Amino acid sequence: MAFTPNKHFAQALIKWYHQHKRTLPWRETTNPYYIWLSEVILQQTRVAQGLPYYQNFVENYPTVQDLAAAPQDEVLRLWQGLGYYSRARNMHHTAQLVVEKYGGQFPGKYEELLKLKGVGSYTAAAIASFAFKEQVAVLDGNVFRVLSRVFGLTEDIAAPASRKVFQKLADELVPADEPDTFNQAIMEFGAIQCTPVMPDCLFCPLQQSCFAFNHGMVQELPVKSKAKAARPRFFHYIVLEFDGAYYLRKRLEGDIWQGLYDFYLFESGSKDLAYETFMQELSGAGIELDKTQAIYSFKDYKHILSHQKITARFYHFKLKNRLKEEVLQESRLVLYSPEKIDELPKPVLISNYLKDAKILVHL
Ligand code: ADE
Repeated sequence: MAFTPNKHFAQALIKWYHQHKRTLPWRETTNPYYIWLSEVILQQTRVAQGLPYYQNFVENYPTVQDLAAAPQDEVLRLWQGLGYYSRARNMHHTAQLVVEKYGGQFPGKYEELLKLKGVGSYTAAAIASFAFKEQVAVLDGNVFRVLSRVFGLTEDIAAPASRKVFQKLADELVPADEPDTFNQAIMEFGAIQCTPVMPDCLFCPLQQSCFAFNHGMVQELPVKSKAKAARPRFFHYIVLEFDGAYYLRKRLEGDIWQGLYDFYLFESGSKDLAYETFMQELSGAGIELDKTQAIYSFKDYKHILSHQKITARFYHFKLKNRLKEEVLQESRLVLYSPEKIDELPKPVLISNYLKDAKILVHL
């Protein structure tokens, strides 16, 4: 028989949690700033990869005031490698708002937290329950999976409309006295016991009353429709070097990697670029090159984003002269030394190239 929502589910889960939980720094605090930092990072990556980022942020910015006062480039540089850079920009913005509007104190209520930029229902519920013990349930991928299997919910978890169904159930399950422990417990249970593949059903405390286990549907649940195929994009980076320094520019709004630095970019519909097209593009930009000076990247650099699949090639030229002022203004390129480039926030694909090309050696 499947569980009906009652307190035994919470009790069993919490008991399991006390026996199996990992010791993690953000579980040792009720400081909403640290909890918020950890949750924003953990939406991007798994615990093992997220830990050094969390420690780095806490060390560099021990208070929300420190983060608010930091330059954006520095915040993005610390975030580098986590992807989805709008999260880091929103985080920075929210830190400033918390300082300016809330006197440096995070609001203590779920509904108020929701108003902060980049704080959605998941993060608001995490902060409200972990820091302030508010009785509100978190819903992340782990929670979707556990609820779907244990209670036999067959709604497509990729469909936004399903969220309501899961949230309603989760809110019925979260106990008033320990919403914080329950929320940690259900996420931890999903992360280490009720895993996406090969869950440990044999030693599961919920086995007897788990819908999926009893119906042989553990592999079928949760139901998740496939995402659309990612759009392929082809980037041709023109790496312009002058006297041991390199031209880069900060990416603007309206596309991926906003606020990060990369080289002069020509995007085309294919991986290979005809010589004429290439020269036309550059002369259009006012850049004159001597083709004999090129050093081409010998491999394709690939990067997969949620809806895009980027393939990049690099064409490195040593310039005899600096770029002209009009070209700099139009292209927004700026000449940077390798030491300065090291400090700039960059897409991982650019960092990888810089390392391969030995422009940066200690990344
Ligand atoms: N993933 C998201 N939030 C988490 C948390 N608080 N602990 C462990 N894993 C998590």
